[in-house]
Amino acid sequence: ESTLGAAAAQSGRYFGAAVPAGRLSESAYTTILNREFNMITAENEMKMDATEPSQNQFNFSRGDQIANWAIQNGKQVRGHTLAWHAQQPGWMQGMEGSALRNALLNHITQVATHYRGKIHSWDVVNEAFADGGSGGRRDSNLQRTGNDWIEAAFRAARAADPGAKLCYNDYNTDGINAKSTGIYNMVRDFKARGVPIDCVGFQSHLGTSLSSDYQANLQRFADLGVDVQITELDVEQGNNQANIYAAVTRACLAVSRCNGITVWGVRDDTSWRTDNPLLFDRSGNKKPAYHAVLDTL
Ligand code: XIL
Repeated sequence: ESTLGAAAAQSGRYFGAAVPAGRLSESAYTTILNREFNMITAENEMKMDATEPSQNQFNFSRGDQIANWAIQNGKQVRGHTLAWHAQQPGWMQGMEGSALRNALLNHITQVATHYRGKIHSWDVVNEAFADGGSGGRRDSNLQRTGNDWIEAAFRAARAADPGAKLCYNDYNTDGINAKSTGIYNMVRDFKARGVPIDCVGFQSHLGTSLSSDYQANLQRFADLGVDVQITELDVEQGNNQANIYAAVTRACLAVSRCNGITVWGVRDDTSWRTDNPLLFDRSGNKKPAYHAVLDTL
């Protein structure tokens, strides 16, 4: 196959990219996006601050620009993200207790209802676990509403959009470590108690090496009965960049419940990182990492 999306589709998977709404008017950019990718994530436009800038006043204009572009061009959409400690609107940042819990659940219900029927998978909860060795939850205003806030979020999302896969998404989960094991234990508990969860997203913001147990970690989650997705892949530029991209691709292909891979941007000049971590250079040329992924798919 000659494009990432078509090559991934040969095994029933997708290949996606994160997109900022502002780039949809740049034809050099959309030419690559449309040609190579068949799953679209809004880089910022479906986050809490973008969609609910004032309490209970929703603004879907920029999120809709991305979702509509995707649908008009035959792409699927990953929803990102309904609940997160970061990029909260100002009104939410200072809230606590039951008022915050109710505001969160209202947010989830309203946003997931607005996009109902258009979303392949939602990152319902993003980055709720702590870094380091504790394996526990990250402290946040949401966490302080009670440890059950994550399951409440998933139940609200399921009620609002029963057709979307509901994912938990996080970073520094690129191998078997304390953080990924904490998430693993939560997912196991959710499956045992019937809390609705369908998938786990592995952001995979990577440096110059990849954990040797990257694939084994994906597999242990899949063995719990959830799908796994690579949701925000980018890899520090260096001698190893192409090899790491190929290894991540191989790992996803080796896990039957790995649905697909999303890279966190298209060209290096549009990345949130400054270390040229993407598959296309600033001029839109295919990098060695691009060919490594395509050859592996
Ligand atoms: C980043 C965006 O790429 C930036 O444009 C924004 O300024 C900050 O957020 N984990 C996530 C993504 O889940 O939403 C983040 O995206 C990158 C880290």
